[in-house]
Amino acid sequence: MDSIVREALFNHVRSWMLDAGALIKERIDDPLEISTKSNANDLVTQVDQDVEKFFANKIKQYYKGHLLLSEEGFGDDLKDTKGTVWIIDPIDGTMNFVNQKRNFAISIGIYHEGIGEIGFVYDVIANNLYSAMRDGGAFKNDRRLPMLEQNVPLEESIICLNHYWLCENRLIDEKVMQSLVKRVRGTRTYGSAALEFAHVAEGIIGGYLTMSLEPWDIAAGRIIVKEVGGMTTDIDGKEVGMLERSSIVTGNPNVHNKVISEYLQNAKK
Ligand code: 2AM
Ligand code: CA
Repeated sequence: MDSIVREALFNHVRSWMLDAGALIKERIDDPLEISTKSNANDLVTQVDQDVEKFFANKIKQYYKGHLLLSEEGFGDDLKDTKGTVWIIDPIDGTMNFVNQKRNFAISIGIYHEGIGEIGFVYDVIANNLYSAMRDGGAFKNDRRLPMLEQNVPLEESIICLNHYWLCENRLIDEKVMQSLVKRVRGTRTYGSAALEFAHVAEGIIGGYLTMSLEPWDIAAGRIIVKEVGGMTTDIDGKEVGMLERSSIVTGNPNVHNKVISEYLQNAKK
């Protein structure tokens, strides 16, 4: 994507992110209409749907040729990564939105011919807008984020993970999680993948491991993390396609590599 086109698009999306955040804030204390999706803990509200519709309408009105891949069903049915694709999670961390009224984010990643061009993660209640443009660095509001330290030891890092994976399940052996949890300085679970990526980019979290995320959970975050020299792959260290559900490890390079080697060592035992 041409840099002038990219910058104009970035500025448009930035102002719409702020508008969408204002819509959410206006409704934050209203009674919520909550439905469930794949299971009783997989929630969606009218606000998730309305925010997604807000962006779907903007794309239709101002960027007719662009495509939308999104969580709540107002997007296109994509077969490949051709063209310009907006990947949107209108509210990432819906359970936090419902139960806590904070710790959720609007997440938008824009890809052109499969390459991440623009990423936004907006922590609406904290008023923190994380953003990045390809080769243009990453920002938290107006402050440019420094490059991540390359060699932070795992033992001095906090990593984010989902405690669900500590229970017996079919996706990861709990021995892997136990050895990781014992090795690191501490663990956290924020409950919003987009925010966990943003915290990695900010350098306040060394890495984030999760065994199953959808494209819209990671589309923006991985662009922002890349701009500060962080890495994002699946748990086997392989690159993750833009349209795939996948395991995810993101972090500063050392933590990223150590989490994967810990997994590969323990998974073989
Ligand atoms: P969501 O709030 O948009 O659903 C919580 O650990 C993180 O995982 C959130 O980013 C959440 O996104 C995501 N998540 C929740 N349920 C999920 C599911 N069934 N599949 C994939 N990701 C999920
Ligand atoms: Ca969501």
